Amino acid sequence: MNADKIGFLDSGFGGITVLSEALRQLPKENYIYYADIEHVPYGTKTKEEVRQYVFQAVEFMVSQGIKALVVACNTATSIAVRELRNMYEFPILGMEPAVKPAVQNGNGKRVLVLATALTLREEKFHNLVQRVDQEHVVDYLPFPELVELAENMVFDYEKVIPVIKKKLDGYNLNNYKTFVLGCTHFPIYINAFKEVLPPFIDIIDGSEGTIRYLKLLLEERHLISTNINGGNIVFFDSGRLIQNKDRLNTFKWLISHC
Ligand code: SIN
Repeated sequence: MNADKIGFLDSGFGGITVLSEALRQLPKENYIYYADIEHVPYGTKTKEEVRQYVFQAVEFMVSQGIKALVVACNTATSIAVRELRNMYEFPILGMEPAVKPAVQNGNGKRVLVLATALTLREEKFHNLVQRVDQEHVVDYLPFPELVELAENMVFDYEKVIPVIKKKLDGYNLNNYKTFVLGCTHFPIYINAFKEVLPPFIDIIDGSEGTIRYLKLLLEERHLISTNINGGNIVFFDSGRLIQNKDRLNTFKWLISHC
């Protein structure tokens, strides 16, 4: 098996928001997308469980021939990415909530980071906040409901908007300048967020920066593809080729909408 593909790993649909960015910036690459449907959601599991699922998934992806890996899941990144980098030689990128650019963007106004409970509990997140939040403007809020909606294939804004409104009930949005989407599932609902939030609040996520860095690493290591037939994606569901037509169509639909 040639190690010539880029692997994307997520617990479910969320990583598609990162893969879409990769297809824009790296259209000549071929991809494997691994959704760990059997274990989704990661954000409500224990650290040890997620660690085990991620190692299993990566081992499988390596057997399918990958030259680089994007852990397109904030929760999996905070639990396992450091160890994975010690285990494998190929470039491994993860997702980090975009707290630093958010703080810089805010000019002293508050930042709200939305992510899974596990991401927000992890030391990695608290170290990041401590490093960049000198003015103590960063608040955070777990939002598992959005992961659940996405995994149940609820993409209808009419159903999503009330969930976002309810979550933000009690927040004085006038105090905020930036929302950070710190879970790759959340950008699926970017338009619902835009509908709910006042126009002076900027919404940011880490996909563009992660893929820009991936491109740089591939170039540096002479791994970049010049293939004219790039852009193929093979979808796996916890180690099996995805057969379910609804799910497969949803992946494809999300790629064209994210
Ligand atoms: C989840 O599976 O709970 C979402 C994972 C993430 O993107 O952080």
